[in-house]
Amino acid sequence: MAHLWSGRFASDPDADLFAFGSSFRVDRRLFEDDVRGSRAWAAALARAGVLSTPDAAAIDRGLGEILDAGLEDPGFVSLERGDEDVHAFVERELVARIGDAGRRLHTGRSRNEQVAVDLRLYLKRRLPRIKRTIADVVSAFVDLADRAGDALMPSYTHLRRAQPVLVAHFLLSHCAALRRDVARLDAVLHEADELPLGSGAIAGTAYAIDVKSLAASLGFGRIALNSIDVSGDRDFVASFLHAASLGMVHLSRISEDFILFTSEEFGFFELADAAATGSSLMPQKKNPDPLELVRGKTGRVIGHLAGWLASMKGLPAGYNKDLQEDKEALFDAEDTWLGCLAAVATVISGLQPHGATTTRAAGGLLLATDVADYLVAKGLPFRDAHEVVGALVRRLVEEKRSFDELTLDEWRQHSPLFDADVRTAITPLASIQKKRTPQSTAPDAVAAALNETRTWLRSART
Ligand code: ARG
Repeated sequence: MAHLWSGRFASDPDADLFAFGSSFRVDRRLFEDDVRGSRAWAAALARAGVLSTPDAAAIDRGLGEILDAGLEDPGFVSLERGDEDVHAFVERELVARIGDAGRRLHTGRSRNEQVAVDLRLYLKRRLPRIKRTIADVVSAFVDLADRAGDALMPSYTHLRRAQPVLVAHFLLSHCAALRRDVARLDAVLHEADELPLGSGAIAGTAYAIDVKSLAASLGFGRIALNSIDVSGDRDFVASFLHAASLGMVHLSRISEDFILFTSEEFGFFELADAAATGSSLMPQKKNPDPLELVRGKTGRVIGHLAGWLASMKGLPAGYNKDLQEDKEALFDAEDTWLGCLAAVATVISGLQPHGATTTRAAGGLLLATDVADYLVAKGLPFRDAHEVVGALVRRLVEEKRSFDELTLDEWRQHSPLFDADVRTAITPLASIQKKRTPQSTAPDAVAAALNETRTWLRSART
């Protein structure tokens, strides 16, 4: 079989080495992007007077037929003919259909820029779907927050009880991280939004291609700054892998929280039966397998980022075949992230909050900061208040009691500033109601945050 570059060689490549270097198994996923890029290139060549109008028309028709065939039957983009990559596949199919005109398509163009344009078009086509799927997870959290109503729970630092919060406030904390993931994808989209064509193999092209109108025809907002850079630049792949890694880290932390909070030890939420698995041996088990798998798969996506940075770090300027490794990392990271987002959305949608349990857990010694604030309101410097309350906590721990069991006399043994109002001032509900800032767990602030998140969701889903 003749390859795109066979003329230079007296003999065929070693079959095993050719198979080793072939990327078609992976890059066939770029099929429609490759056809799209080639149609635009043919039109640009025609505008530059390089292709005759009939040749350009034949190429466009041929590529259109190839695209239809591939979209109708994915089996059409088949490995059977032994093509080296998707670019070789499309060109061979074109020449088979339209003959000589097809052999003029690659004028002034290189696969180095072709693969870059394909990959950028691919990301621009696919990232909106990931953004919508992230929004689905946010939406599942908002619905869960509705189900949680005004239930309280402890917040944790060092996984030790810290301060009471609304369950909805905790759920919205994960939404905040997920929203950053969407913003990060917008940044990746912006980075990908650059036309590499016109760069040739590395030095630019000798044909008067109007790159501005070519960019517009493919929907690119900018034109690449430098042809040598284009040849070897896969920063946008690294940026995507970083976005995917951090997105997976967020899903992993969500998973960890709900693995803990649905356990017998916490009992804060109940997993839906449909979102759990049993044990082949222990009949009582209700395991959070989907969440554990999300946590586990996060390692693989982080590995793709680390692996890709390592692949790039020693490359000399310009294209090097090492760059072909980008697609396996990118596609697997994308598939894994999408799969995990869908799994997490389903698990969250099925969660039932145990409001009585979480609210009960929000009382007790985690009101110590509120006691200190009480003394500060009576004029004591905060450092002194901290010390007074610290001693009080030490006593209560020893006596295995809590603030609400103290008599006024006992309060006053620790400071004369305690008055009868301390009994009503120190409750979990009073604690959250006293918060004043918009990002706090104050009920009004959380209601406003929920509404703002619903507004965000409406725009994220359009
Ligand atoms: N399959 C190649 C890749 O993914 C396409 C570019 C080939 N360029 C080259 N000079 N061999 O990187």
